Amino acid sequence: MSDYVIRSGSWALLETEAKMVRTEVFIKEQNIAAADEWDLEDQKSLHFIVYDQNQAIATARLLENHSIGRVAVLNQYRGKGIGRILMRHIMDVGQQQKRPYLKLSAQVHAIGFYQSLAFEVKGEEYLDCGIPHVDMFFMN
Ligand code: COA
Repeated sequence: MSDYVIRSGSWALLETEAKMVRTEVFIKEQNIAAADEWDLEDQKSLHFIVYDQNQAIATARLLENHSIGRVAVLNQYRGKGIGRILMRHIMDVGQQQKRPYLKLSAQVHAIGFYQSLAFEVKGEEYLDCGIPHVDMFFMN
């Protein structure tokens, strides 16, 4: 685990790495349209990148409205606990920043992943970019 480094910062600082991971995972693998992937929230969010030996392998962003989004681990790095490390790091930041809660729009296949981090489902399933999602919350 000690080989993984997490950096956080603005879009200006981390755009190249975040774009690489999100392009691989959301645009190429999940077929999400580029027009849906990139939005103005990127300019306002705090971004996180996980590095393995200086290579970006995972990312996520934390919005001003306490929403965690665009959580993505490169395919070949999944199932090694990296998503969990990244989410725990963001949850620590949320606590340090005294955010009252954290929320996210979870793809339904990942509900178990977020539940294992103490997020709870609220409300009904809905489609976003053609993919079933559900809202989940963590109260700080
Ligand atoms: N459904 C249910 N449980 C899952 C899961 C999933 N899709 N993915 C991981 N888990 C579980 C793991 O089994 C593990 O549990 P364990 O510790 O009891 O074994 C725990 O969650 C942590 O798994 P981890 O290895 O840290 O997850 P990961 O690094 O593979 O990252 C995702 C998880 C969802 C971020 C990753 O699969 C991913 O990037 N998927 C594609 C993009 C995506 O769908 N993002 C979510 C958008 S809401």
